[in-house]
Amino acid sequence: MHLERLKTTTGLDVRGKRVIVRADLNVPVQDGKVSDATRLERLLPGLQDLAKRGARVIVISHFGRPKAGPDPQLSLKAVADKLGELLAHAVVFAEDCIGEPAERAVAGLLPGRIAVLENLRFHRGEEQNDPEFAKRLARLGDLYVNDAFSASHRAHASTVALTHLLPAYAGPLLMEEVQALMRVLESPERPTAAVIGGAKVSSKIDVLTHLVGKVDRLIIGGAMANTFFLAEGVEIGKSLAEPDHTRTALQIMHAAKERHCEVILPHDFVVAPKLEAGASARVVVTLETPSNLMILDIGPKTVAHYAEIISRSRTLLWNGPLGAFEVAPFGEGTFELARRAASLTKSGRLISVAGGGDTLAALNAAGVTNLFSYVSTAGGAFLEWLEGRELPGIAALKSART
Ligand code: 3PG
Ligand code: MG
Repeated sequence: MHLERLKTTTGLDVRGKRVIVRADLNVPVQDGKVSDATRLERLLPGLQDLAKRGARVIVISHFGRPKAGPDPQLSLKAVADKLGELLAHAVVFAEDCIGEPAERAVAGLLPGRIAVLENLRFHRGEEQNDPEFAKRLARLGDLYVNDAFSASHRAHASTVALTHLLPAYAGPLLMEEVQALMRVLESPERPTAAVIGGAKVSSKIDVLTHLVGKVDRLIIGGAMANTFFLAEGVEIGKSLAEPDHTRTALQIMHAAKERHCEVILPHDFVVAPKLEAGASARVVVTLETPSNLMILDIGPKTVAHYAEIISRSRTLLWNGPLGAFEVAPFGEGTFELARRAASLTKSGRLISVAGGGDTLAALNAAGVTNLFSYVSTAGGAFLEWLEGRELPGIAALKSART
């Protein structure tokens, strides 16, 4: 990946220009209100910069996964309102992302102002990467900026086809995300460690396989560690595991050995009869888990061991929780290790990058999100990057004209 092939609008005269910004406004909404505005907050500086430079900013995004055409439940109106609140400036909202409502909103948009267009996925052409739909979007702008790293794993009209119809640029948030990932995977300060957690080996086969060729130490936690134990014939009691994937686990161990990557598994656990808040949890120090119990978190010795490995590393990549962190007390392993990584980062001894799926929620619960070097706002896109895949939206930007 050559970053220099991604061009930004820095230094470009955008005064009076209609700039279409592909953003990711796919934020959690509950009872018609945005319940977590992290993604919007991260977008603000880029939007404000364009507005300050006199651009007419047209924000486009998907929201949720509408099945067939417009669905009032999945309107972007509430998100647009929240964006306006954060900008301290009302934004214009258009009730369709193409056609008359969109064209009217754009025609009336003054330099320095921001409009949000309705959910792109209300049109089938979006997910079909339809060139005709993309043309109708392109009519609305003079320039295109992709600032939606977290949607760039989708080959959709707004992330791919449109990129080829207007001069196309990478937005600042997208650049930040890509740079953080490159810093841990492409040109890291060594030694490097990755903490990979989560429930299933099967959903992370490609991540694990790719990472053993990239990092020096691979630390595994969460229920997926159980599948590795099964593969080695270790008793895991009632713990969640994937017996069908023991071979995969062995293949990953084998690939790691070939690539001189050290794989580290837990060696003590917090176990309980079932996954339930306040369940009578206890620590087992041996590897063998009694048949009536299940592993729900890593134990204190494992936390100390993992922390020690991280303290001997310069760069850390973190994806996925190490236990059933949503249910107390089974988050302690994840939280404590996250705190240790945060404090190493704070003292300048570690570069830490985290992202993907549940990771942000786990770090938020540990109260350390702001102490990591970088926490990605992306889920699927972050994981696909960790799999070593080129994201279609980024590939399109690299080959686009500016
Ligand atoms: C996300 O929230 O991960 C992105 O916005 C992508 O959404 P999607 O998985 O519905 O494409
Ligand atoms: Mg997703």
